[in-house]
Amino acid sequence: MTDVGRHPRIKLMTLSEVESISGYVGNFRVKVHKKARYVDESECTACNECTDICPVMKPDEYQMGFSIRKAIYMPFPQAVPSSFVINMDECLGNNPIACGKCLEKCDKKCIDFDMQDEIVELNVGTIIVATGLDVYDPTALDEYGYTRFENVVTSLEFERLICAGGPTDGHFVRPSDGKTPKRIGFIQCVGSRAYKRGHPYCSNVCCMNTIKDSLLLKEHYPDTELSVFYIDIRAFGKGFEDLFNRSKKAGVRYIRGLPEHIAEDHDSGNLLLKVENTTAGCIEEFELDMVVLSVGLESRQDGAQLRHLLALSQTSDGFLAECHPKLMPVDAPTRGVFLAGCVEAPKDIKDSVTQAGAAAARAGAVLSADMIKLEAATAVVDKEKCTCCEVCVRVCPYVAITASRKQKIPAEVTEAMCRGCGACAAECQFGAISIRHFDDEQYMAQTEAALEENPQDKVIVFACNWCSYAASDLTGTSRVQYPPSARIIRTMCSGRVDEKFVLQAFKLGAPIVLVSGCHFADCHYIDANRWTQRRMDRLWSRLERLGIRPERLQLEWMSAAEGNRFAQVMTEIEEMRTKVTREEIEETKKILEEYESKKKKGTAALGSST
Ligand code: FES
Repeated sequence: MTDVGRHPRIKLMTLSEVESISGYVGNFRVKVHKKARYVDESECTACNECTDICPVMKPDEYQMGFSIRKAIYMPFPQAVPSSFVINMDECLGNNPIACGKCLEKCDKKCIDFDMQDEIVELNVGTIIVATGLDVYDPTALDEYGYTRFENVVTSLEFERLICAGGPTDGHFVRPSDGKTPKRIGFIQCVGSRAYKRGHPYCSNVCCMNTIKDSLLLKEHYPDTELSVFYIDIRAFGKGFEDLFNRSKKAGVRYIRGLPEHIAEDHDSGNLLLKVENTTAGCIEEFELDMVVLSVGLESRQDGAQLRHLLALSQTSDGFLAECHPKLMPVDAPTRGVFLAGCVEAPKDIKDSVTQAGAAAARAGAVLSADMIKLEAATAVVDKEKCTCCEVCVRVCPYVAITASRKQKIPAEVTEAMCRGCGACAAECQFGAISIRHFDDEQYMAQTEAALEENPQDKVIVFACNWCSYAASDLTGTSRVQYPPSARIIRTMCSGRVDEKFVLQAFKLGAPIVLVSGCHFADCHYIDANRWTQRRMDRLWSRLERLGIRPERLQLEWMSAAEGNRFAQVMTEIEEMRTKVTREEIEETKKILEEYESKKKKGTAALGSST
């Protein structure tokens, strides 16, 4: 961090918040709200005279509330810049009659109560998002008594209590009476791998953190009795198993089972718990001086704001989604934006540093290139046909399209931002947008070719390139059989599937049409598949209104790894296909021809509202 602060080509902006980001790769414009520090950081020598005299006392957030800080303070010992900051919400100095003591005390005259917040505008080529994560708050788990019992602490609080720079200068004591605890229990998976209260995923670092803490305790306090209550220990990294074995050899007891409930002995402050030791097959009772809850990690509370700022996507567990887990693991879906550290998933320091290095290298590669290669398939607007309705603007997951209904400005695509998902082309009711190399005529021609002979024996499958198309491939390479009736038409995203592709397939005699895309939160184009869902919902109602059985249009979400599922879905659909009679197919053709001719005459209700 100190190196970063000193680097001549790194501008470190602390106390700053990004307000807005516009532009695209190579040309981002970032508006930053730089908050006033009220202390001149270039003059402040952190001499402490101001903090000594400040009368305001507040719990120190860095020390997890175990000690106090003043209203003028250093956020943490290694802070960069090494300068004090005033929390103006707590400071009495706003009113010189009430205080202003630090102002008088500072010989260097670094304190300036009139300092103002600033808005700084930056032009940058790439952005690396490394905003970190939050830690699970176990207060909701009432059975563990966190906040009710003083000697139940979280793993983060434990870190402060045992740290040489902590509130007790590294003398490990329990909060209730300041005595060194002799019997300590660690409870694993608090808020992790929990489906009802907490998060279903493994937080990745808690097992090793506890093992490390246990060794630290054994080193400093060899007589301490340590018990670790766990579901299973995940020591999967380089040297981790060795560390685990060392901990066991040092006398740490690992008990497979989580306590159901913790009670407190009011007189001694000791904690009583019962646990089913599933390895030994018995119930054990413990009286402990202190319990450490090994809390899980979660995505940041302000994640939604960040996603909105950068048009990013999120996985179902709330972390930011990478562009592709294997091929582009540090790229965000928005070109020119990269992810580093726990903003993408819980990870340890080594993995975070590795990912940060990769993100920096990826960003460097973009910045050092003479030109940036764009997607070949991007949206193109026919301005003659555009009615300035702004639907495409709302649909675009990358905010790549601008238009104005009020000012009658037709849609314009910023090609550097467009990734070619095709959601805009599929939603445009006026045929004003198409996707280069994936235009409507190409899809219509493919459907026509697929249904040229014996259409009643075919199932048209619009398959997303990244999931079901790959799943169908996997089915083939795994030699899993699926019915030969499937005619697969590849789209880059399910969001590209236009209503008219489906209607044309039915008009040409297809008994069943399947649209398939990635699971929600897995769409390669942020959330373009949500528009697929909406469009299909609309189309089902339209089919029903027209008198066509909506079940003949199927929608399935799957991943590239679900080859077996693809085969299973196709088998079920084949069964449906055999139940569609020739009469029904002919009747559908007639209905759709009539519908089209009415539409041409402008009498059919479009019935679409995006
Ligand atoms: Fe597969 Fe969007 S990329 S549905």
